[in-house]
Amino acid sequence: MIRRDFIKHSAAALGIAALGKYGLSAPVMASTVPPDTPFTLRLPIPPLLEKSGTSAEVAPLSLIVKKDQHEFFSSGPTETLGYNGSFLGPTIRVHNGENVRIQVDNTIDQVTTVHWHGLHVPARWDGGPHQVIEPGEIWKPEFTINQQAATLWYHPHAMGLTGEHVYRGLAGMFIIEDEYSQSLALPRNYGVDDIPLVIQDRRFYEDRSFAYVRSMHDVMHGVLGNFLIVNGMSKPFAEVPRGIVRLRILNGSNASIYRIYLSDDQPFQVIASDGGFLEKPVGLQELVLSAGERAEILVDFGEASADDRLRLMVDQYNGNTHEAMELRVSGDKAEQRTLVTELREQPQLVESDADRTRNFAMETMSGRGMGMMGGNRLSINGKKMDMNRIDEKIPLGSTEIWELENRSASMMQLPHSMHLHDVQFNILERNGQPPVPIEAGRKDTVLLWPNDKVRLIARFLDYTGVYMYHCHMLEHEDDGMMGQFEVVDNNMKI
Ligand code: C2O
Ligand code: CU
Ligand code: CU
Repeated sequence: MIRRDFIKHSAAALGIAALGKYGLSAPVMASTVPPDTPFTLRLPIPPLLEKSGTSAEVAPLSLIVKKDQHEFFSSGPTETLGYNGSFLGPTIRVHNGENVRIQVDNTIDQVTTVHWHGLHVPARWDGGPHQVIEPGEIWKPEFTINQQAATLWYHPHAMGLTGEHVYRGLAGMFIIEDEYSQSLALPRNYGVDDIPLVIQDRRFYEDRSFAYVRSMHDVMHGVLGNFLIVNGMSKPFAEVPRGIVRLRILNGSNASIYRIYLSDDQPFQVIASDGGFLEKPVGLQELVLSAGERAEILVDFGEASADDRLRLMVDQYNGNTHEAMELRVSGDKAEQRTLVTELREQPQLVESDADRTRNFAMETMSGRGMGMMGGNRLSINGKKMDMNRIDEKIPLGSTEIWELENRSASMMQLPHSMHLHDVQFNILERNGQPPVPIEAGRKDTVLLWPNDKVRLIARFLDYTGVYMYHCHMLEHEDDGMMGQFEVVDNNMKI
C-alpha cells in the first residue's frame, strides 16, 4: 500500500516534469563524475562519543565544527564540513537521567548552531536559530537527559543556513539508552550488530565539489542529489553476523523522501520510530521516511549462509532507485538469534486529553495575486519565519492537538515534512484514519503528502522558552516555512 502511495505521488503523476512552463529556473544538472566500483569499500561507522568515567569532573563531549576534505570518489576529495572528522560527526550516546555537558567549537567562518533533533531540553540549549555560535566561539550546552531510549540526531540550525550546512556534512546521530532498552533482547553491539545508517543524497559538479545551489526549482523541490550516500560513502558494504541485526536508519537528506527496502523484498521488523520503541515490532517489506525521520529495524540473517549478499535499496521520491549498500553475511554468529515480540508499553495521548486545538496550513502559494516569482511561496498559515515574532504561545503543562494540512495549489503539489522541537507527539489521525502501526508510536517529524491532513497531539512539559516548528525539507525551512512557539508559565511570579 505504501508503494502504491509512493507511485501515486511520483513526479509524473503530479506533473512535475512540466514545471518549466511555470517559469521555474532549471535544476542544477547532475554531474558526470564517474562513480567508483560499487560495494568495494567498507561502510564507515561514526565513532562513539560518550561520557567516560563517573566523576562529576568528566570532560565535556567535544564537537569541533570544521572545514575539511572528504573522499566521495577515488579520483579526489571534495571540500566538506564535519564535526570532528571530514564528513558527518560522531554518534553521541547517552543514558536517560544522565547529565550531559557538551562543548562545541565553531572553527568555520560562518555562524552555525547545533540542534538536538528529537531531544526534550530547555529552550536555551535547543540549538535553534537563537543559539548562534559565532566563528571562533565556543558554545557549552548542559542538560539532563529526560526521555526514554530512542535514536535521535543533531544538526545545525542557523537561520537560512541549515540546508547548506547539513549538505556540506554537518549531522550526526544521538542515541539514548535507558534501563528498559538495555533489558530487551536486542542487538546492542555498536557498529557490529547495531548499525547506524545515515542516508543522504548529494549531487556534485564535475570538479567533485558539492552542487549546492538554491535555484527556484531547488527551493521548491528541495536540493535532490543523484548520488546516494550512507554514512558519507557511496555504495559501501557492511559485514553482518548470522542472526539478528539492528539498523538505526536516519533519513538525513535535505529534502528527499526515501522508500527503503531490501533486495528480494526480504521482510524486516520495525521496532522504533522517531522517539522510541513501538509497542510491538511491525513486520514490513518497505518503509517510507521523509527528511528528518528515523526508524530502527531488525533484519534476520539467521538463515543466511556465509557470503550471502543482500542490498539495501532506496527509491528516492522524484529521483532514482539506488542500491544504497550491500549487507554481506560473515561467518560469525550473531549474539542475538531470535526476534522479540513485545517491546515497550507506550501510553498514548488521546483526544480528550487536549486543552485546545491549533491549525497549521502548510502552503505552497498564497493564491491571491502572488505570482510564482513573488516572495511568499512557502509559508505556514500564510506567514514566513520571523525571528522577532512568536507565532504560538503555549501554556506550560498543556496538551494540544495540532491540525496540520498540506494545502497545495493544484499546479504545485509538494510534500512537506513537519517537525516540532521540544516534544514527541502522537498522531491521532491521518486523513481521517487512525495512524498505521509504524506511525502510532512516538514521533517528532511527520510526512504530509499534497493535501494530507494530519492531527497530532503533544504535551508541553517541563521547560519554558522559544522553540521551532518547521518543514524538515531544509530548503523549505530556509525559505521560511518555519514558525516559533513559546512555552509560557502563566503561574510564574516575577
Ligand atoms: Cu531537525 Cu528544527 O530540526
Ligand atoms: Cu528538531
Ligand atoms: Cu515543505
